[in-house]
Amino acid sequence: MLSADNAGTGHVHKDLLPILDLLLPTHISVVALPERPMPHPKASFDTMDNDWGVPHKYAMRLATFTDQLEHDPSLATVVDSINVDTLRRNVRWLTGEAPSGIESRHSFTKGALQAAHWIKKQVQEAGASCELMHYMEGFAPNVICEFPNNSSEHVVLSAHYDSRGSFGMTRAPGADDDASGSGHLLGVVDAIKRYKIKFDKKVIVAFFSGEEQGLFGSRAYAGHLKDTNREVLLHIQADMLGYHVPGEPMQLALPATIHLPEASYFVGNVSKLYSPELVVGSTQACCSDHQSFLSLGFPATQVFERNGPIADPMYHNSGDLSFREGYDFDQIVAIAKVTMASIMIVAGWSQGQ
Ligand SMILES: *[C@@H]1O[C@H](CO)[C@@H](O)[C@H](O)[C@H]1NC(C)=O
Ligand SMILES: *[C@@H]1O[C@H](CO)[C@@H](O)[C@H](O)[C@H]1NC(C)=O
Ligand SMILES: *[C@@H]1O[C@H](CO)[C@@H](O)[C@H](O)[C@H]1NC(C)=O
Repeated sequence: MLSADNAGTGHVHKDLLPILDLLLPTHISVVALPERPMPHPKASFDTMDNDWGVPHKYAMRLATFTDQLEHDPSLATVVDSINVDTLRRNVRWLTGEAPSGIESRHSFTKGALQAAHWIKKQVQEAGASCELMHYMEGFAPNVICEFPNNSSEHVVLSAHYDSRGSFGMTRAPGADDDASGSGHLLGVVDAIKRYKIKFDKKVIVAFFSGEEQGLFGSRAYAGHLKDTNREVLLHIQADMLGYHVPGEPMQLALPATIHLPEASYFVGNVSKLYSPELVVGSTQACCSDHQSFLSLGFPATQVFERNGPIADPMYHNSGDLSFREGYDFDQIVAIAKVTMASIMIVAGWSQGQ
């Protein structure tokens, strides 16, 4: 997750990119400016009526899904099976708290490459086909996995697997930011595998790199979808799901501003049905990979751990471990139920033999 309370623009030489995140204080984050013109808000008043130029028909489709939501016990059985022990194990493998040997998943480290290959293998075992998308010299690749269907319509669920540590430290476990999102994706994938779920649309599970340097991985991937004229019905980014202030209930925050509102309403209503244990609210916490999708006019939103501002004291810190007070694996599982139910509903699904 990137943060930006006050924005400014600047220019840096590309050789500085690999270390830019480490040169800046932790409260400052980098978002690269788009290389292509952004759709102008209200560019075509008939078809777009949101700030991001997302065509109206996608907002309408999501609003219709929201209107028609009703509890489906067979869907609940699938999402309720997301397993906290598996999720914890996967998160701790990524952080190096389990003996994976990963010290950092910073985009320019060998730990990031090791994580990418391991993630790819895990998701392939669930029947997806995965590719390592090398988009820029020096950056670890995105891991892009597709569940088989030749529908031209796509539903995308993502997280970023790269991490950031404290200034001057090589250790970057990133348990919350964003092994929580990546582990949640692996939890969803594991449930898809166990229930042999088949989707009626092309479901993509994406693990981005280069997020902490300015959303580079997701920009490359969203740009690829745009350039190849893919239709995206919904994109959900999961970034920082694990932490809430000790004593607070489990929460799900949706973006207050950076989102297609109909996408967030849909996810919020899905949460009420399938994860009633979560207190749904909103956050101004800013900047993650869904922004790359929105900038290109795709319907997108984000799920986040806490209503209100970022409260994680270990944010962008080498102490971002999962063994600590406030880090709540049950909350990650509860949010995984919501994102999984959301993609199942929008993509359409059946249980295989
Ligand atoms: C889609 O895939 C199925 C099997 O996976 C195949 O039978 C069908 O012909 C394909 N349809 C198109 C339009 O490619
Ligand atoms: C793809 O989706 C269609 C429905 O749109 C479904 O009939 C078909 O079985 C799916 N294919 C696969 C390989 O899951
Ligand atoms: C449910 O959807 C409606 C719009 O249909 C929206 O006003 C409401 O805020 C949503 N609820 C949640 C919890 O997101």
